[in-house]
Amino acid sequence: MRTLPTLATERLVLRPFLLSDAAIVQQLAGNRDVADTTLSVPHPYADGMAESWIAAHQGAWTRHEEATLAITERDAGLVGAITLRIELPQRRAELGYWVGAPFWGQGYASEAARAMIAFGFGKLSLQRIYAHHMVRNPASGRVMAKAGMTHEGTLRRHFYRWGIPEDVAIWGILADGTP
Ligand SMILES: CC(C)(COP(=O)(O)OP(=O)(O)OC[C@H]1O[C@@H](n2cnc3c(N)ncnc32)[C@H](O)[C@@H]1OP(=O)(O)O)[C@@H](O)C(=O)NCCC(=O)NCCS
Repeated sequence: MRTLPTLATERLVLRPFLLSDAAIVQQLAGNRDVADTTLSVPHPYADGMAESWIAAHQGAWTRHEEATLAITERDAGLVGAITLRIELPQRRAELGYWVGAPFWGQGYASEAARAMIAFGFGKLSLQRIYAHHMVRNPASGRVMAKAGMTHEGTLRRHFYRWGIPEDVAIWGILADGTP
């Protein structure tokens, strides 16, 4: 596939980001509460960062490195982002996501995660998809559980965020349904 895919779920459309999404990305991802429990969302989220991030997506997909899609909802529009960081030689990918704070608690991350996992096992023929969350971020653990992932362990002080070490839970799901 040359262009990033578009995936439809019951309530959501996961589609490639457009440069015209940049202002909303900056507004949603610029919230410290969203950046707080991620490693990849910069803070503060300066002007131009969203445009550069969006502009990099197609190349990363063409190089088979990443699939990053906007999580959009019919009425609300852009609510978040979801990424598979692909390691094709290992037939695995790491799942990451954020949802804007006004949209938390409505099941959007879980619904998007299920669609990305199905895409990874289907079109990308992956064998394993895994994800991490900081132990102090149990909401993300619920997303992983609701997406069918299995808790595989806890990596002690695995990440630094804001200069503080974080214990990190790791979850995974296998293509053949092995629990
Ligand atoms: C984590 C995040 C993606 C969740 O998005 P969301 O769309 O609200 O997720 P969902 O609605 O699909 O599911 C959230 C679940 O967490 C639960 N939850 C929320 N806060 C919780 C808490 N403090 N403790 C335990 N569970 C919690 C919700 O009740 C829900 O579970 P349920 O459906 O069983 O009730 C969102 O909070 C976010 O973007 N946070 C900042 C960025 C981030 O942490 N990204 C993930 C990095 S690993």
